[in-house]
Amino acid sequence: MSSLLAALDAGDARPDSIALRARSYELLGDLTGRTVVDVGCGGGRAVAELAGRGATAIGIDRDAEMIAVARERWPGNEFQVGDAHDLRLETGSVTGYRADKVLHTLDDPARAVAEARRVLAPGGRIVLLGPDWDTIVVDSDDPETTRRLIHAKADTFPSPRVARKYRNLLLDAGFTDPIVEVHTGVFTDETALALLGRITQHESWLAEQAERGRANRVFVAVPMFLVAARC
Ligand SMILES: C[S@@+](CC[C@H](N)C(=O)[O-])C[C@H]1O[C@@H](n2cnc3c(N)ncnc32)[C@H](O)[C@@H]1O
Repeated sequence: MSSLLAALDAGDARPDSIALRARSYELLGDLTGRTVVDVGCGGGRAVAELAGRGATAIGIDRDAEMIAVARERWPGNEFQVGDAHDLRLETGSVTGYRADKVLHTLDDPARAVAEARRVLAPGGRIVLLGPDWDTIVVDSDDPETTRRLIHAKADTFPSPRVARKYRNLLLDAGFTDPIVEVHTGVFTDETALALLGRITQHESWLAEQAERGRANRVFVAVPMFLVAARC
């Protein structure tokens, strides 16, 4: 959990991540006085940022340790331990639902989206955000191994390619007016090496990337899929 949190914190601080979170909040519509749930909230930053924009924000995460960290970091906000597939929220009780880098970790994303629709009031908005783990781009002298390593990492997740399905999942669940955007994070510094170290332990491949780092020749691109729709 602590290494995931450290990686999330490092990513969160990047200017493009800050802008992407802001865009995700904008797509939730007018937040003033609205109740918004951030599902899979992790360390809770988005909950505090949503509250700062006038929402009554609730953070929910399956991991009790994450919720403990969120409560400590962002006192005064509401955090619950809970499961995206089966939320302990009343039907129609929220006007915004957000899940950032979460659905790829779920066994049944369609069930989570149906659950989102249940808890959203008519006219409420949903925003899903995350990478498609098969489409991480890395420049390497060994493209075959690169493809194999990226796909091997993708295969560690229950739903690695769910981001390309966000729009269809929402339509299938009865959401309307989908908006689709792709915002690509480009990593050319030491943050790229940290990211690649979370993808693989393959020593010679990482050594080539480290050498590229010393020569300022690292290039990693991560398309982030952002899809919003109306209930
Ligand atoms: C990659 S982290 C992203 C955290 C946060 N959304 C962010 O952007 O920093 C994924 C989070 O989803 C949570 N999670 C995984 N499965 C879940 C489930 N079934 N219900 C609720 N949360 C879940 C994990 O515990 C973790 O905190």
